[in-house]
Amino acid sequence: MNKLKELINDLAPHVEDIINQPGSPRTVYEPISYILSLGGKRIRPAMVLAAYRLYSDSYSLEIFKLAQAVEMFHNFTLMHDDIMDNSPLRRGQDTVHIKWDDATAILSGDLLQIEVYEKLTEIGNIEILQLFNSMARELCEGQMNDMQFETIDEVSNDSYLDMTRQKTAVLLGFSLQAGALLGGANATDAEKLYDLGISIGLGFQLMDDYLDSFGEKAKVGKRIGGDILEKKKTYLWNEMWSHLDEGARQEINELYTQPESMIIASVTASMDDTGAKEYTLELAQQYTRKSLNALNHINVSGDKTYLQEIVEILAGRES
Ligand code: IPE
Ligand code: IPE
Ligand code: MG
Ligand code: MG
Ligand code: MG
Repeated sequence: MNKLKELINDLAPHVEDIINQPGSPRTVYEPISYILSLGGKRIRPAMVLAAYRLYSDSYSLEIFKLAQAVEMFHNFTLMHDDIMDNSPLRRGQDTVHIKWDDATAILSGDLLQIEVYEKLTEIGNIEILQLFNSMARELCEGQMNDMQFETIDEVSNDSYLDMTRQKTAVLLGFSLQAGALLGGANATDAEKLYDLGISIGLGFQLMDDYLDSFGEKAKVGKRIGGDILEKKKTYLWNEMWSHLDEGARQEINELYTQPESMIIASVTASMDDTGAKEYTLELAQQYTRKSLNALNHINVSGDKTYLQEIVEILAGRES
């Protein structure tokens, strides 16, 4: 299990490079430097490199720019997502809008997104730019659906999966597709890798939802129970809801006048009792199996073990 570590090592100087934000006024650059320096798993830039290595074993300058762009874009989405989700904690530290304020988090996020486009411009590949644009558009659509679902009681599994595909999986799909294209993959194989990224991404978000309610705060680095308090229509919630009768549903709705700890304790207990907790984990595992199987069927000239290990590690993640 050293393949991911190797990729993270390869990325290290390029991550340092984007953490360094020397512009002025400092108040707009410091939050960018702050969020990027808090770490995180760096799974998306690692996926960029892993896809590249399916086709080539000597890195180019462009592949690191792409890896940087993807990690920066991810962190931009988090800065704004934390405002939208009222999240106080990220990677074990104050979120940007708490440490500074909403206006700073909005503007630093905007600037970070501009820096992403600067990187993409430096790469100078119009196809990759177009793929990025479609991905980014879908991600915004998914984030809006995610918020709108907060006000709806019942959301179907299909709607949940589609929203998740948009808000989370498309960025993983793009990371694999664009990394593979820069490595020399043909269009058909690069599209297969996009689909693989979608499958990995759906499993990834199911685990994210699971950890938000059942993870350990010290490992997850976020407020546990945040999704429940925001009434996020996660798979966990939807499965639970579909197993409750009218009376039990009303009890859950009435809980929301109670203290936060009580709401979280009751809803997690109900997610457990209804089998929603177990089923969510099972579904995440199904996506892992599907992803490993798809990877087996993709013909490559290079090394598959990097991507294989990433899929396996994500399946058992606790953070
Ligand atoms: C969190 O992503 C946001 C989601 C799309 C679920 P990660 O779990 O990859 O966050 P970091 O970068 O490791 O902190
Ligand atoms: C995040 O989903 C998706 C994007 C940021 C685009 P979540 O809202 O579940 O991510 P976390 O749990 O805050 O990291
Ligand atoms: Mg969110
Ligand atoms: Mg969030
Ligand atoms: Mg989450």
